[in-house]
Amino acid sequence: MSPFLLTRTLPEDATEAALRADVQHGLSRTPKSLPPKWFYDAHGSELFERITELPEYYPTRAEREILLDRAADIAAATGARTLVELGSGSSEKTRFLLDALTGLRLYVPVDVSESALTQAGHALIAERPALDVHALIADFTAAMTLPDTPGPRLLAFLGGTVGNLLPAERAAFLSGVRALLSPGDALLLGTDLVKDETVLVRAYDDAAGVTAAFNKNVLTVVNRELGADFDPGAFDHVALWDAGAEWIEMRLRSRTEQTVKVRALGLAVDFAPGEELRTEISAKFRREGVRSELAAAGLELAHWWTDREERFALSLSVVG
Ligand code: SAH
Ligand code: AVI
Repeated sequence: MSPFLLTRTLPEDATEAALRADVQHGLSRTPKSLPPKWFYDAHGSELFERITELPEYYPTRAEREILLDRAADIAAATGARTLVELGSGSSEKTRFLLDALTGLRLYVPVDVSESALTQAGHALIAERPALDVHALIADFTAAMTLPDTPGPRLLAFLGGTVGNLLPAERAAFLSGVRALLSPGDALLLGTDLVKDETVLVRAYDDAAGVTAAFNKNVLTVVNRELGADFDPGAFDHVALWDAGAEWIEMRLRSRTEQTVKVRALGLAVDFAPGEELRTEISAKFRREGVRSELAAAGLELAHWWTDREERFALSLSVVG
């Protein structure tokens, strides 16, 4: 069987320090907010996988359709020998790329979720004895260094996860990605597209309540890791479309006046009735916006592919 290597780029205590800093900062300001990367403990990663199967959550199916149609074009345009994937999760859709990239030597999935990386990595090496998998536990919003790998490299960022970054974070992220790429390397970027508000809101507020459970999971993570006493039942899941910013916002709305204690920080956080904590933005894009954000980072959009209903897009930029 081919090797599976798992490398932690940040020690566990640095991850805990980052969570402490985010909770301290995010719960002390108005409006309150927490970064979405803390959704993804083992349970959060499982809930996300259930979201991808919901009838209302179209992005995964739409992106799968594009990958199925275009994987051969992507392989021809890149000739990649290494595939690096940021926020790889289950690596489920990635299999279309792994199949099409005939010269591929190495797959480098990068994620904050150790459970997702381990499960996906073991499944992949069992399926594909010739593939080397070097998984990295890393935060793609922090300065990243990648292992020295054979080029050309294709860096994939699928799922629309780039939309979970705020505009300034996105600009910094894309410039950081550009700096990791050498001539001949490429970026494959998945972006969800602006569409009817009802379709969008339903995708983030499903009838079965899976997204609500995913949203509230961040409270369970803070309870477990920092000894907080959030009662997830005392908050309502909120998903709304911000038409000006063109993003979905997920929030948790306090049902009552309550004080939450975060023992590890010696913090007492007051919530007024109806007060909201922002847990995620999920920006939706248009072609011109993607092109200009890539250009600002020194990347040129070479291909733009959508699914047949134009719900989601994959763009490819090859470094000259
Ligand atoms: N690419 C997969 C998974 C998307 S879910 C798909 O398209 O279905 C988002 C993934 O990004 C999760 O696996 C989550 O753990 C990971 N993630 C979120 N924030 C991250 C960060 N800051 N650094 C690294 N991984 C992150
Ligand atoms: C990972 N990311 C692209 C998902 C999204 O659609 O923004 C996370 C998610 N949040 C709620 N549902 C899914």
